[in-house]
Amino acid sequence: MAIDERSLAAKLAARLTKSPEEKVKAIQTRKARRAMTLRDYEMRGNNARIREMTHVPELILVGAAGTGKTLAVVDYLHEIAWTYPKARILMVRKVRADLANSVLVTFERDILGEDNPICANMQRKTRDVYRYPNGSEIVVGGMDRPGRILSAEYDIIYVAEASQISLEDWETLVMRNRSTVVPWQQVIGDTNPDRPDHWIKQREQEGALVLLNTYHEDNPKYYDVNLGDWTAAGVQYVLGKLARLTGVRRDRYKDGKWTSAEGAIYDEWSERHHLIDPFEIPREWRRFRVVDFGYNNPFVCQWWAMDGDGRMYLYREIYMTGRLVRDHAAQINRMTEQLEVIEATVCDHDAEGMATLRSEGIKTTPAKKSVSTGIEAVKDRMRIQGDGKPRLFIMEGCRVELDQDLHEAKLPTSTVEEIPGYVWADGKKKEEPVKEHDHGVDAMRYAVMYLDASGSKRAAAARAVGLRGGRRRGR
Ligand SMILES: Nc1ncnc2c1ncn2[C@@H]1O[C@H](COP(=O)(O)OP(=O)(O)OP(=O)(O)O)[C@@H](O)[C@H]1O
Ligand SMILES: [Mg+2]
Repeated sequence: MAIDERSLAAKLAARLTKSPEEKVKAIQTRKARRAMTLRDYEMRGNNARIREMTHVPELILVGAAGTGKTLAVVDYLHEIAWTYPKARILMVRKVRADLANSVLVTFERDILGEDNPICANMQRKTRDVYRYPNGSEIVVGGMDRPGRILSAEYDIIYVAEASQISLEDWETLVMRNRSTVVPWQQVIGDTNPDRPDHWIKQREQEGALVLLNTYHEDNPKYYDVNLGDWTAAGVQYVLGKLARLTGVRRDRYKDGKWTSAEGAIYDEWSERHHLIDPFEIPREWRRFRVVDFGYNNPFVCQWWAMDGDGRMYLYREIYMTGRLVRDHAAQINRMTEQLEVIEATVCDHDAEGMATLRSEGIKTTPAKKSVSTGIEAVKDRMRIQGDGKPRLFIMEGCRVELDQDLHEAKLPTSTVEEIPGYVWADGKKKEEPVKEHDHGVDAMRYAVMYLDASGSKRAAAARAVGLRGGRRRGR
């Protein structure tokens, strides 16, 4: 008998003679071994340095898109979870639903491995904790539903896309950061650059927070340091996709600069005043939808409501590329709850699109498309009134599903993300907007025009300044 065959026979014999308890133990050991695999990625620059920065209580990795920030942080968290049994770690993003398509993909695919028992048999969308065999836990959540996650304390907290959360949220997380198991405590984040006056930059200047810059050359997937050149994937992503970005998105996501858009059209917009926490829309409020068609560009459907004081609220949004109108129509019907009375569906002028919606039972109303009147009307509603509130609000996290392709290409994934980059094409003349990433803002313009452009009593009511409204969110 050859040696291999003999050892195989011995193994088989051993398996047959094992007691049930021994068998269970063997399976558990095998599972634990698979769960424990550390991937041994090459980490460069500040992506590697985070392991030497445990004395820094607040730390954020900053950089253009794809510099390897998220992989570096989740790799670090995984190692901490294994090194310190019973460690409690939190992974959080502004909107919980957005975690599933971004950070959790990187964590499960690149760090755990999808067959890892820690994440096997679990839906990313619904999972709220990763349990390690050594008792460590990585809890996942969003600041849109803070109750559950904030009722506990954590050794280490990771804030993904930190620029999206408010300073108040960041400070709340710092308060939940108490280490009991890991020898240090830390709130660590990652982000792309944002406005130069963002709270992250201010907190860094005050000395409370350390920012570490990362570059495309730090990511082995995109840059080969031995050759001193881009890899094929780097050519495709950095020199291809990111190089095709324009304006402020190019500055931030390709070049890693903290900049603001020049000549923003909606300069009244501020997340602090216009973004509000979700709340239940009272049954009696008026509701309507607005649609802007698109396939290669995003298809947008917004659900708006208006309160008794004429304030309007965007409370639900589809923002998605690559789907047929028929499929959108089915989703629109599915998402509109039975007791929601929608008075109109205002549509961009696309005969075929409108016909498809009608064939699915959605009655359509053509949009009023005058650009300059529409923009003025939106600006008017965005202005802060005497009572400190505007008359147009968008609910935090109202987009129902993240478009993965847009997210990866660093293009806007919702109306909120379009607004700061919606700019004038003609400088001081201010007549022509740049016709790019304007699908959500166009729909918003049609929504405002639907309410305000008729000169009717309703429009007058809409212009009246009222006192009630949704809760404002500090930002
Ligand atoms: N050290 C590494 N070795 C190999 N591949 C890596 C490494 N770091 C990152 N990658 C790969 O590069 C891609 C981008 O990485 P990652 O998502 O971490 O970048 P990011 O800086 O967080 O990007 P974004 O700014 O878009 O969030 C991913 O596919 C990831 O798997
Ligand atoms: Mg990332």
